[in-house]
Amino acid sequence: MTIHPAWLPPSTFHFLTGKRFLIDSDHPLAGTVREELLRAGCGPAAPGTSADLTFTVVPSTTLSSPSIGVGDGDGFTLTGSGVEADGPRGLIYGLFELARGGLPGRYEPAFTRRMIDHWDNVDVHPVMGQVERGYSGGSIFWKDGVFLGSSPDGLKRIRTYARLLAAAGINAVTVNNVNVHRTEARLLTDRRGEVAVIADQFRRYGIVTHLSVNFAAPVILGDLPTADPLDPRVQQWWAATSAQLVSDIADFGGYLVKADSEGQPGPFTYGRSHAEGANMLAAALTSRLVPSLGALRTPGPVVHWRAFVYDHRQDWRDRTTDRARAAYDHFAPLDGLFADNVIVQVKHGPIDFQPREPLSPVLTAMPRTRLAVELQATQEYTGQQRHVCYLAPMWSEVLAQVDGEMATVANTGDDIYWTGHPLAQANLYAAGRLAWNPDPIAVLDEWIDLTFPRAPSRLRSILHELMDTSLLTYEQYTAPLGVGFMVRPGHHYGPDVDGYEYTPWGTYHFADRDGVGVDRTSATGTAFAAQYPHTWYESPATCPDELLLFFHHVPYTHVLHSGTTVIQHIYDTHFEGATRVESMRDLWRSAAALVDPDLHARVAARLDEQVRSATEWRDQINAYFHRKSGIPDAHGRRIH
Ligand code: GCU
Repeated sequence: MTIHPAWLPPSTFHFLTGKRFLIDSDHPLAGTVREELLRAGCGPAAPGTSADLTFTVVPSTTLSSPSIGVGDGDGFTLTGSGVEADGPRGLIYGLFELARGGLPGRYEPAFTRRMIDHWDNVDVHPVMGQVERGYSGGSIFWKDGVFLGSSPDGLKRIRTYARLLAAAGINAVTVNNVNVHRTEARLLTDRRGEVAVIADQFRRYGIVTHLSVNFAAPVILGDLPTADPLDPRVQQWWAATSAQLVSDIADFGGYLVKADSEGQPGPFTYGRSHAEGANMLAAALTSRLVPSLGALRTPGPVVHWRAFVYDHRQDWRDRTTDRARAAYDHFAPLDGLFADNVIVQVKHGPIDFQPREPLSPVLTAMPRTRLAVELQATQEYTGQQRHVCYLAPMWSEVLAQVDGEMATVANTGDDIYWTGHPLAQANLYAAGRLAWNPDPIAVLDEWIDLTFPRAPSRLRSILHELMDTSLLTYEQYTAPLGVGFMVRPGHHYGPDVDGYEYTPWGTYHFADRDGVGVDRTSATGTAFAAQYPHTWYESPATCPDELLLFFHHVPYTHVLHSGTTVIQHIYDTHFEGATRVESMRDLWRSAAALVDPDLHARVAARLDEQVRSATEWRDQINAYFHRKSGIPDAHGRRIH
């Protein structure tokens, strides 16, 4: 079976066929635009004749080398007769905007770096597999320890992927998992040639390649007895290793680091701070490029240092430790201490990619630090690409509150639809496009237009009905009112209300016979609510209903702003959510004649599973709270 073209079907540029073009740039990215136009059946305008379409780079920002700093020249203007780009990358984005039927005008992304982070392993991990939290088959980069880019087919697939990402407005990719195991650590050293091959493919579409590294690499790779960031031998090791990487990959994007988190090594082992750890790597990356710290502001490799640091060996009896507090407690005091080429990468919520969390307070607490917000397209906690769950509405709310950079954990793999669930392609598309078009429903429309060319309006409305509010539906049948988790430990699919309740992971709901929720107030709880510059979350009177149980432990009879009690809300939303999934399944069945039969069958099968799973969620959650509270459903529906 051939690989699904996602949002770039063969017809993508057909409306350009027969046009004469002129490209006024000899940058390699202009070469890519030229290839695209030739493929679409366009031809170069003969010298001295006028062109139908012109592609120019505004001379002042033209870069002559293939090395492009992030965000340089991504913007462009559609003139009506072509693309006037701020820089070479803008030519590519302009071309894809033409495919979307963009109107004349100015286009600029709201976020400079728009990155996709792969959690791909080189070796198959005994528990996590080839791709950690991957629901789309294997990796497109490695299989069973072997690099796929060595074969022509593998290389072509990486290039096709690069093209899709560029069309979605992505300009950076991290190729491997943040949990860097022994084999993957070698991507820094003797396996760096593989990273260089991937980077060559991505570069053709203006995408810069980054690498996840293990903080203890100097030890793991066998060279040194320590990874202490202040030890000169360690600094020297990283400087020499980074210099080789940068000499092989001239536009190397930099390192992504998960340190002192969930068992990964980090500076704490040596009594050093996260700023000391990150700055050491930042200096190593630039030491070959610039003689002095003063030059660090120029575009060049960066360190993305993750703020996902918490105690994963917590005693569940200890009510004072609060995982939600951890990132802020560790990082806010370090504001201003990070080097200019360090970017602290912060998960959008304080816990871990739950369907509903408040914005992480770290994102507004570090004005003197470069920040990236981290989103998760791979649906670890949102149905694992077996459930329809369009995440863009949540992401766009997050992005409206932050600026700087964005990084999204990939949901792609070697599946023929790229994302397992064909409709999950829309999440990958949105991961880039929301930076250019913040309206999630408009982005979904773009995706429909491109992916289902000439879609009848009936199909369009079915897709909107399935997807627009799919996250709200998912939220309805899973953990209530922002309390989170209640998933099966380990793989995180399906309900297990108490699965994490007595574990060391710090994700508890504290349900008892009287009530449920986590008291995070300053008055009686963990005081996480005080990490915000406002006091809304401190009182149930001002806390939004959908976050009530994230911040408060309340009786089941507590009356929400909506007028319903907490227990009745739990019953109502769980019945309604599961019923909505049944209608989604029926609706999709009615679309059988409107889409490709294989794609239809794939989505139909997953909707069957979604109905099964939503029913299980409904029944377990309702039964659990009915048994705890002893309060019957006001409408007398069946609770098991
Ligand atoms: C979650 C996820 C892990 C991942 C971690 C992270 O906890 O379950 O697989 O490694 O997030 O973001 O580092």
